[in-house]
Amino acid sequence: MGLFQKHQAIERHSLLLTVGILLVVAVGGIVEIAPLFYLENTIEKVVGMRPYTPLELTGRNIYIREGCYTCHSQMVRPLRDEVERYGHYSLAAESMYDHPFQWGSKRTGPDLARLGGKYSDEWHVDHLRDPRSVVPESVMPPYAFLSDNLVHFEDVGDHLKALRFEGVPYSDEMIENAKADLVAQADPNADYDNQDALVARYEAAAGRKGTVIVGDYDGDPSRITEMDALVAYLQMTGTLVDFSTYEADDLSNRR
Ligand code: HEC
Repeated sequence: MGLFQKHQAIERHSLLLTVGILLVVAVGGIVEIAPLFYLENTIEKVVGMRPYTPLELTGRNIYIREGCYTCHSQMVRPLRDEVERYGHYSLAAESMYDHPFQWGSKRTGPDLARLGGKYSDEWHVDHLRDPRSVVPESVMPPYAFLSDNLVHFEDVGDHLKALRFEGVPYSDEMIENAKADLVAQADPNADYDNQDALVARYEAAAGRKGTVIVGDYDGDPSRITEMDALVAYLQMTGTLVDFSTYEADDLSNRR
């Protein structure tokens, strides 16, 4: 009873209540913020992360332009139901080259952080052109026009340059070859030397093999369309980090 009476005093004096709230919030704030001063970095050390290839980056820009993030998140939260549905929870390292990041907060449709490799390219093309042709109950809008729009990539090197300014480790070589790399990735009939050079460049940055997929994405090898670029991007989301070597509890993973 005595304790409740004391609490009554706080509830009746707004100034006392305000001071009490400030004290409680301050403790919470210190617990959250203080560790950031002595942790050198909160981004995990992982194998496989590399900058986006020019084609993937172009696809990502289309994803942002079309507002896909208004219905889709790209962050698997560390909760059991999410991990069982989507796969390993998202790591900070996985979005360290994302400017702007696409975590999102709205899920009218499913999370897309680990979409890569889940469906075939054909499925994506069908789904983007007419979502209800493959998922009858879908409320997603159609994006068929992406198959008609050719990719404008004269300035793709400048996009890489701008991202390097933001801290993404694009090399001079990647920037110089950006246009050739974009063509090499999207066109299965492109110069094989260019394709090998593209794959070598980006796999070296990733530190492992198998992270660059070359080929025709939209079913029409004669043209490079926005559909090619968007599907190339969707097919690589969440596939870079090698989880067979990642140990979440290993503190040496903090760099
Ligand atoms: C109005 C909301 C809305 C917008 C905008 C939207 N989507 Fe969707 N999306 C959905 C819904 C709902 C689903 C689930 C039904 C389905 O699969 O079509 C979905 C499903 C998907 C799937 C299948 C995911 C899976 O794991 O099965 C992909 C891929 C996808 N959307 C990509 C996109 C892309 C790319 C864009 C932008 C070009 C986009 N969506 C824009 C609502 C939306």
